[in-house]
Amino acid sequence: MKISRRSFLKTATAIGASLAWVGPARGSRVHWHERRDLYPQGVASGDPDPHSVILWTRHPFAQGTRQLLTVEVAEDESFRRVIAHAQAPVSSAADWTARVLIGGLKPARTYWYRFTDTDGNGSRVGRTITAPLPNDRRAVNFTFVSCQDVNEGSLNAYRRMIYEDERAPAAEQLDFVLHLGDFIYEVVEYPDEVKTRYDRTIYEVARIPDGLKVGNFHIPLTVDGYRAVYKGYLADPDLQDARARWPFVVIWDNHEFSWQGWQSIQKAGKSRPGQSIKVAANQAWWEYLPSRCKKVSGPSLESFDAPAVTNVAIEKWDENGLGDEPNNLAAINSLIGYRTYRYGKHLDLIITDQHSYRSADPFSDPAAGAFGPEFPSMFPEDVAQVLDGGRAFNGGNPPAEVSFNGAHVPNSQRNAPPQTILGAEQKAWFKGQLRNSTATWKIWGNSEGALDPRADPQNLPPGLTKETWPKTTYATLPTGDYGTAYKERAEIYDLVRDAKITGFAIVSGDRHSFWAGYATSELPPGKFDPVGLSFVGASLSSAGTMEAQEHNFPKTDPLRPLFLADRPDGAKPDWTHNMLLRHGVRSCLEYAKSFDLQRARSLSNPNLAPHLEFVDLGGHGYAKVRLTSNEMRTEFVCIPRPIARSERSDGGPIRYRVLHTAALWKSGERPQLKTSVLEGDVGLAI
Ligand SMILES: [Fe+2]
Repeated sequence: MKISRRSFLKTATAIGASLAWVGPARGSRVHWHERRDLYPQGVASGDPDPHSVILWTRHPFAQGTRQLLTVEVAEDESFRRVIAHAQAPVSSAADWTARVLIGGLKPARTYWYRFTDTDGNGSRVGRTITAPLPNDRRAVNFTFVSCQDVNEGSLNAYRRMIYEDERAPAAEQLDFVLHLGDFIYEVVEYPDEVKTRYDRTIYEVARIPDGLKVGNFHIPLTVDGYRAVYKGYLADPDLQDARARWPFVVIWDNHEFSWQGWQSIQKAGKSRPGQSIKVAANQAWWEYLPSRCKKVSGPSLESFDAPAVTNVAIEKWDENGLGDEPNNLAAINSLIGYRTYRYGKHLDLIITDQHSYRSADPFSDPAAGAFGPEFPSMFPEDVAQVLDGGRAFNGGNPPAEVSFNGAHVPNSQRNAPPQTILGAEQKAWFKGQLRNSTATWKIWGNSEGALDPRADPQNLPPGLTKETWPKTTYATLPTGDYGTAYKERAEIYDLVRDAKITGFAIVSGDRHSFWAGYATSELPPGKFDPVGLSFVGASLSSAGTMEAQEHNFPKTDPLRPLFLADRPDGAKPDWTHNMLLRHGVRSCLEYAKSFDLQRARSLSNPNLAPHLEFVDLGGHGYAKVRLTSNEMRTEFVCIPRPIARSERSDGGPIRYRVLHTAALWKSGERPQLKTSVLEGDVGLAI
């Protein structure tokens, strides 16, 4: 695995000026004096491998279109042992951002880096860590995070993460941060137009040039618009400190492009052809987040060189639901996000893109959406499965109609391709990566959750609602992710089982809530047969379901106790929604009546959620993973609702810390999680 200088230079020649190879250690030759104001977005590093890493900064200049910075990499924080010293071009074409690939580094080492301009004005010092060699048996430590809305919240979670990491023993310190998307929210509110939402204060983030306004949201349509949002987000001091402390490995979720968008279609309420908007989103993402993602213009790290595309409606779709239109294909392929990283003996991190190749939403037919109007957020699971399966449902014999309690509507997906989130090409790649992985743990870094959100309204006592939920089906509370992508999920889980793959686990984000459980294709009355573990990490700051429901759920709804249990003393309601997903309606009704947790849990429906060990729809924070030869430990660090910046050096108090441990299982064995509360109160999450 040792890469020679020659082969590094050969593969890196195409990168252009932005590369450096290490040499013998010597003192710094640069008269660096720190001027953070000239590097307003700080520094960052991304996608380390055992011998190289990409370093990043931004230094805008008033004069000219291209300038050179010097980058130094040292073995020590005070730069007495500088091992690389190179030129790093910045240009207006890349919004004055710089990326430099440093090669020849030693595996599993910590390095420090800094940038300096020709006047000696220096960036802050950043720290980065290379990956261990593939045969290195040391433990791997990382966090997975997502959803950092700073328009409506603060990043106290990063402050807490830094505080704890600085005090952790060296062998337990984090190797990298896996960011699973919603790094920015392209829907920006202006505090002079809207002051609050839910519990939130609206904070100034950015002003978007040449954007679009939908409701209270300003939305970018050009690369300058997206750049403005990244600059606003990266002004956050906690995010800057986190990027300066650890390398980040990143993948986008929806908001890096468009809230409800998919492929190159921009959607915020209304759909619009958005080929040029998708390219603009990719360009700004590439400029601000250093990664090894492949861009269509080639490997140069200096500028993105966006392909020219036209915004035209997509009229033809292929058999997998991919828009067969040249501008759409050019836009979604302008930057390839999916990739695999190997970290030592124990981790293959397989990262996928959930938005660029997905098929049309199969659940958008308003006729079927009107099923069961008395049951908030609930949709019949059997109907969801028919719609998800499209023309492939029931072995290619889908029903002509879907029905609920005697109401029949035509099956809108009868001739549609089965729902895919990955798209055919990425899915084939993903399966190959899974099959060929030789690491102890195969972790699927996936922005979207995969654990079923379901409830059992068929067990409600008669009389609570006018209509009775049919006895023959559960309800799903659709989240638009792998939780209702039944067919595609089963295809992947079947592969894991059939290829006898062990150590398979999913880490995801997007749901703004903490979930821990098992990867299983089916739930009762089908066969519960887990092939791996599945986790969802809470949002760092973005508002979640419980916050929304505290504000919006009708007080007089007879099913309110399934979501919120109102305390007689007028205190904040308890979040029975967590209990609904984990234990079912009987537990919720009992809890809302007696507030007796034990009695409520004794009424748990064991067939509802054997796949769930933990769910907290009101949590915020981050998840910390530790992988060894025989165990995966996943710790949820939950903080209070982050509505304002904590001035404390530890980022403020924590709500709870809960640990999910799983021993490595053998092929054919069932994975088993052990959940223990280490600290604090998890409420109704267990
Ligand atoms: Fe989000």
